[in-house]
Amino acid sequence: MRVLGIETTCDETAAAVVETDGAGRPIIRSSEVLSQIAAHAAYGGVVPEIAARAHVEAVDHMVARALERAGVELSDIDGFAAAAGPGLIGGVMIGLTTAKALSLVTGKPLIAVNHLEGHALTPRLVEQVQFPYLLLLASGGHTQLIAVRGVGDYVRLGTTIDDAIGEAFDKVAKMLGLPYPGGPQVEREAKKGNPERFHLPRPMQGRPVADFSLSGLKTAVRQEAQKILPLRASDVSDLCASFQAAVVDVVADRTRVALRGFRDIAGHPTALVVAGGVAANMAIRRGLERLAAEAGVRLVAPPLALCTDNGAIIAWAGLERLRMGIQDDLTVAARPRWPLDASKDTRAGAKA
Ligand code: KG4
Ligand code: ZN
Repeated sequence: MRVLGIETTCDETAAAVVETDGAGRPIIRSSEVLSQIAAHAAYGGVVPEIAARAHVEAVDHMVARALERAGVELSDIDGFAAAAGPGLIGGVMIGLTTAKALSLVTGKPLIAVNHLEGHALTPRLVEQVQFPYLLLLASGGHTQLIAVRGVGDYVRLGTTIDDAIGEAFDKVAKMLGLPYPGGPQVEREAKKGNPERFHLPRPMQGRPVADFSLSGLKTAVRQEAQKILPLRASDVSDLCASFQAAVVDVVADRTRVALRGFRDIAGHPTALVVAGGVAANMAIRRGLERLAAEAGVRLVAPPLALCTDNGAIIAWAGLERLRMGIQDDLTVAARPRWPLDASKDTRAGAKA
């Protein structure tokens, strides 16, 4: 079985071809990603109109490149998957419409994939991870703790009630005069700094529900910075180190609570999986490794290229669905909001 996947929900235009071998094991035949970071950098964040325009200009080309790199023709594809949300609606529509057109002309199935499901199933694309497992998805747009019990069977144990973790890194970077995207910059500065110089809050720590809140922490960084203006280079490093240390504590605490909740609904997890751009942060990874060891579970961190947005994770989620007989018809709509856990659809303040 071979699926072409298209991803256009944020600021990457991506397409990939993923197939399974005789034993059902995945093989990534191609994965082409075009990042728009440079186009958005001047604005310190993703501008939806710029993103949609860039997607429409690039998507056909990316699909053609993915087919070419994979060495296959359109007629060799068994299904077309696109991320149908959640995300910036202009971009989502472009990817989904492209997949619909390809499905229509080839007569092959269309699979509308939830972008979050792409991240949720990624560990199974790289390793033989069995259900159930706990996923921490942390990117610029999402912060979620999800019990993954099977394909299409997800229970959200926690989310952020305000900023996503990556968004908090980006905003802290911006206020300290560091370039976008801020996560890698803050981590670099933090290495040089003193994490104990500033006493910052650990929002939600100890709460019984595994939700996050980052905006108070971000405000606390701003207040500490304002007290010591003008900032010297060492002040910036110390602020970054103190902020990152607070995030590491919060992530470990919230994930510990989610592990507890996980056992009540799904038993013992086979793994703790971390995905999303924030998974690149080594301090956060080390914190999660300590937690995983303490809880007696394995930590799985997919390679970075598969943690961040790409077409292969969409193709793989599409393939996992297609081989279970699940597909969509051409009337399926793009969705700006689309929680993985349908029971959470109306939850106030939820990001997805
Ligand atoms: O998954 P991703 O590439 O894109 C989406 O947001 O969908 O994640 C990007 C986010 C940005 O907010 C970026 O600042 C953050 O991940 N990030 C990091 C690091 N590298 C990227 N945050 C903290 N530490 C890092 N090393
Ligand atoms: Zn993503």
